[in-house]
Amino acid sequence: MNCEPNRDNGISLGIGSTANCNLNCGHCYSRPLRGNTLTYSEFEDIIEGKNKKIHSINFGTGENILNPEFLDMVDLCCKKGIRMSVTSNGYTIGQMDEAILKRFNDVDISLDFPDEIEQNTFRKGASWNFVDEAIKKCQKLRIEFSITTALMNINFKQIPGLLQRAAKENCNLRVNIFKTVPKAGIFEFKLSYDQFWEAVGLLFTHGNLISCSEPIINAMLNIIPAVSQSPCGLESLRIHPDGEVMPCVYWINSNETITLGDGRAIPAEYWTKSTVHIEDLKESFAPAYENESFKRIRTIPEFCRKQCDKVDVCGGGCAGRRYLNGLLDEPDEYCPIYRKLDIPKIEVIKSQDQKDLIHSSYLCTLIFQGRK
Ligand SMILES: C[S@@+](CC[C@H](N)C(=O)[O-])C[C@H]1O[C@@H](n2cnc3c(N)ncnc32)[C@H](O)[C@@H]1O
Ligand code: SF4
Ligand code: SF4
Repeated sequence: MNCEPNRDNGISLGIGSTANCNLNCGHCYSRPLRGNTLTYSEFEDIIEGKNKKIHSINFGTGENILNPEFLDMVDLCCKKGIRMSVTSNGYTIGQMDEAILKRFNDVDISLDFPDEIEQNTFRKGASWNFVDEAIKKCQKLRIEFSITTALMNINFKQIPGLLQRAAKENCNLRVNIFKTVPKAGIFEFKLSYDQFWEAVGLLFTHGNLISCSEPIINAMLNIIPAVSQSPCGLESLRIHPDGEVMPCVYWINSNETITLGDGRAIPAEYWTKSTVHIEDLKESFAPAYENESFKRIRTIPEFCRKQCDKVDVCGGGCAGRRYLNGLLDEPDEYCPIYRKLDIPKIEVIKSQDQKDLIHSSYLCTLIFQGRK
């Protein structure tokens, strides 16, 4: 399989115009970035430039409406004909004028529990109501939307309920596997190996697959992916609200030793250092792809290269997960082959609906349709 990047269609950008938020969820990867916000002029530097071709932009990281210049940024994207999506806890979607919201190709509304009390307790605020309002608004305006769940050890058994809610609302369920946040000391929500595969089993038992870009799942269940291996840092890049450019939204740089949840101290030399900032991308996106972190994310573990016939599809699994676990050079922790375990027997039923969703091919994620 050809794993060379195909940037002819343009780059998919993930942009956090702000890391500020109206909620304070315990699992949030953008916590270390709170207080940072992009200016309109910085946004122009990202978008403009004769050597740039942009396929799409997803706005995420914080609640983007809290950036006072966010709507001007949306306006600029519209003028330039760039497809947009936004991931929101509901607040940004609720606050946007209907005419502006209609300019988005699709939107994502975060919901981690199908129960109101559990949702509000986890997200420490009136999250349920923000979600409800955003869903109603998207339905009224006939905007394509997904419910988005961060899959953790505290909510993976709720998958059937979340898929039921998605089916009831006539939307998709998008699932991101929880990633640890070493700089904020957030490790406790990680799925164990057994929980991961139980969660995957629940998703495929109760839902129909729209798209999957989690390499280890594609490799084990023989799913032909839209992008082989991990899409991060290949045809997509992220811009943090502090102006730093990263290959994966969860990726970190560090000049210091970081101690992980299991007590392992990962020395400073392990973590990437060199940074690319918005000002380096004024002419083209090329400097990002030449950066250390963009090269490191393409690491394929020796075991995978030498001993696995699924390496073309899998590439060693999600590199962000391996990196954050201090084990970039080892296969994905959810790989049964490396653990010498049986490959889980899970039947894949695909959705008949062909959907062109911005998230399908720009990070490791799974999108399902609930069954009615
Ligand atoms: C960081 S939030 C930003 C947008 C918005 N505030 C929201 O909650 O949807 C984007 C998505 O990332 C998810 N997320 C946050 N921290 C995560 C983590 N450590 N691992 C995986 N997903 C995470 C959230 O649940 C949400 O669906
Ligand atoms: S609502 Fe989104 S950005 Fe805000 S704390 Fe929760 S996950 Fe993070
Ligand atoms: S051995 Fe490596 S390439 Fe093969 S399936 Fe496991 S993680 Fe993927």
